[in-house]
Amino acid sequence: MTGTRARFPGGGRDWADLQAEMRARSAGDVDWRRGRTPLFVFFNDEETYEIGREAYFEFFSENALGRKRAFFGIGSMEREVLDFGLDLFSAPEGAEGVFSCGGSESIFLALKAARDARRAEKGIAPGEGRMNVVMPITAHPAFDKAAAAMDLELRRGGLRADRRADPAALRPLIDERTIAIVGSAPCFPHGVIDPIEELSALALEAGVWLHVDACVGGWLAPFFTRIGRSTPAFDFRFPGVRSISADLHKFGFCPKPASTVFYRDAEDLARASFVADAWPNGRFETATLVGTRPGGAVAGAWAVLNHLGESGFRRTAERLAAMVDGYVAGIRAIPGLELWAEPDLTIINYGSRELDIFRVAEAMGANGWLAGLTREPKGLHAMMSMLHEPVREEFLAQLAEAVETVRAAGTGVSGLQATY
Ligand SMILES: Cc1ncc(COP(=O)(O)O)c(C=O)c1O
Repeated sequence: MTGTRARFPGGGRDWADLQAEMRARSAGDVDWRRGRTPLFVFFNDEETYEIGREAYFEFFSENALGRKRAFFGIGSMEREVLDFGLDLFSAPEGAEGVFSCGGSESIFLALKAARDARRAEKGIAPGEGRMNVVMPITAHPAFDKAAAAMDLELRRGGLRADRRADPAALRPLIDERTIAIVGSAPCFPHGVIDPIEELSALALEAGVWLHVDACVGGWLAPFFTRIGRSTPAFDFRFPGVRSISADLHKFGFCPKPASTVFYRDAEDLARASFVADAWPNGRFETATLVGTRPGGAVAGAWAVLNHLGESGFRRTAERLAAMVDGYVAGIRAIPGLELWAEPDLTIINYGSRELDIFRVAEAMGANGWLAGLTREPKGLHAMMSMLHEPVREEFLAQLAEAVETVRAAGTGVSGLQATY
């Protein structure tokens, strides 16, 4: 045994002691409350945060796995959250949804349904050769994870000049063994929504499933559109869209872990489901990858969605849009910086043709700002929520200073690597 492995605790420590140590351990964390992290945490306002938290702890012990046999309150709240999503995404009669523990799980489930649908359609038995998924290079690594687990080949296509998926680049990658094509709303790297209408037409023409990964934008983007922004639509109104993943724990402002996945057809939900029937305890069926799920996450989502509702999300969209415009204008005003894409929502990606932007990231890091990075194109990246509004001027001033410092220092390349 190495000397660094922690020994199993002797026990007996009380809460005050434990809490003090936990706080001490996180004292050096990046200060998310002061807008220092451009990813991982999402925030609307204190009231929404507290409602999510209270609701979560009200159902802290309940297990959403038992929603049909024991925890009927959680079951009814989950049903409503799914109905809210079906409504928001203009799902047709017969569509269905599932509450999952995160975007990666939602994506896994959608791909499982798509794979089994393709197998059924083409008469391909399990193990009879590899199947594939066609997607833009910007699709999230959750697709890589699902593909690795299900032995699928990923075929990646390039982007248009506006950094959205290029349907013409995806088209030649599709064949008989393609289970799905993918578009994002928005993609994480550049914050733009792929041309879902065109991808839908391509999916129909090629006879393949289109999955829209709206994990980031799903629960918020429709309200950007409704307040008159140019944010494009991405949902079931496009007939080729067969499934949508949308995370509640991102821009739904709900407590983690909470995501949703919707299927145009309830038959596809059955395809995504797992059934085991050889067990001494009898038939076991879940439409999720995980078994036990936190009841608190369902309760938190139900409470937050009911608290915000249409009016709250519209107000949030107004505030976030104004904030993003403020950041964009501020970045554009700094000589040497430019936006790599026009943001559709709240993700901004920018860089420089004059200096090494990763050196700017290092300078910002030294001041406590965790930098999100992209490597192609080399850039800074931020997924912003209302935590970032109070610090906007401070951030932009320090960014301008960092750019000037790097410029004054002359040439030189940072050793930073873009890692998520
Ligand atoms: C576009 C996109 N899809 C999927 C995911 C995966 O979500 P999760 O981290 O909840 O598994 C993310 C996470 O950031 C994402 O940005």
